Amino acid sequence: MVNTKCKLIVIDGLDGSGKATQSKLLSDKLNTLGYRARTISFPDYESDSSALVKMYLGGKLGSSPDDVNAYAASTFYAVDRVASYLNTWRADYESYDYIIADRYTTSNIIHQMAKVAEDERDSYIDWLFDFEYRRLELPAPDMVIFLDVDPAISQKLIDGRYGGDESKKDIHESDVAYLMRCRTSAVYAIEHLGWKRIDCTEDGSMCTIEEIHDRILALIPDIK
Ligand SMILES: Nc1ncnc2c1ncn2[C@@H]1O[C@H](COP(=O)(O)OP(=O)(O)OP(=O)(O)O)[C@@H](O)[C@H]1O
Ligand SMILES: [Mg+2]
Repeated sequence: MVNTKCKLIVIDGLDGSGKATQSKLLSDKLNTLGYRARTISFPDYESDSSALVKMYLGGKLGSSPDDVNAYAASTFYAVDRVASYLNTWRADYESYDYIIADRYTTSNIIHQMAKVAEDERDSYIDWLFDFEYRRLELPAPDMVIFLDVDPAISQKLIDGRYGGDESKKDIHESDVAYLMRCRTSAVYAIEHLGWKRIDCTEDGSMCTIEEIHDRILALIPDIK
């Protein structure tokens, strides 16, 4: 194991911004360079621990994201995360050089902090970090990279994936006004929490997967 100072790297972004694509590419590249790297991904839809997240996103607890308050919804995601940590990647966190997370606690900041008043943001962040990183003992990320894609453009990528079928979207994906609020939350985190922002669009369309990958790679310190 190499003594990397930047072990847990989170790739976050709005829905359909390329998180899974870029997480895999980064992990593969780090493996090619001789490091031990792996991806983790949230929510962990394969696991029963995501049951409450599925109920929430499926609209079983209300048809609007705001029907479940920021703190309640955050706990659903946090519980899924801690189950994943205990079950599947706690040992790897000790032994690997890099863990690349497709979403993490940071997604609560993007999607749930969007529900609280502006003057409550800092106290929400304090509550969330205390809950997930201290009480639940999840490792805190060493770097957070936000893939910034105009929701209007990422919606097109999501539409492509669902073949234009609106009914396949979850309650976050189908609410563009809410996604705009989520982007505002992310901008707050970029300004106040030191997240790295990558602008993934140029002249109204997505940059290529390779371009975005190269810019992510340039952010990682200490690689060969
Ligand atoms: N730079 C890009 N240019 C064009 N298409 C892309 C780009 N990056 C990803 N895609 C495509 O956009 C879709 C969404 O990408 P991906 O699944 O990586 O995003 P995601 O952020 O993980 O999405 P979700 O939030 O829904 O989990 C996929 O079909 C993917 O192949
Ligand atoms: Mg994804």
